[in-house]
Amino acid sequence: MNPTMQIHPGHGPGRTVGFTLELHNFNRSQRRSHLPPFERHVFVCHNVRPADAPRPSCTSDGKSDLHTRLSQLSKEAGLAGRVRINKSGCLDQCEHGPNVVVYPEAVWYGGVRPEDAEEIVREHLVRGRPVERLRIADACLNARNCPHKD
Ligand code: FES
Repeated sequence: MNPTMQIHPGHGPGRTVGFTLELHNFNRSQRRSHLPPFERHVFVCHNVRPADAPRPSCTSDGKSDLHTRLSQLSKEAGLAGRVRINKSGCLDQCEHGPNVVVYPEAVWYGGVRPEDAEEIVREHLVRGRPVERLRIADACLNARNCPHKD
């Protein structure tokens, strides 16, 4: 349902001519309920730590060409409004970064470079097939004794 707006000329105190706006059939929550939910959320870690920190970080300067590339390619693939590409803080998989996680499948990618964005968008976000070569091994995901941790 489209909102309609009517403008009625009126007179207000201290004014020569005023206007009264009446909005009909306009309810923000109703409008939102008509928007389809996102099919996927993609979180791209943007965390930055000092070089001498005990754990590595996914970026050295808080910037990410990976996020930019994923966003661009996702839009070009017609996924705007269906897939949301978000920057995130630390995802606690720091030793495997740069990290990306895709929900609702909870597919974790590690060591992701901007050059990998095209394959992630094409294979995973469009075709629904996770990119196996980039996945963080189950044995490493949230593991205390991951061989990648000192
Ligand atoms: S800094 Fe990226 S997962 Fe921790």
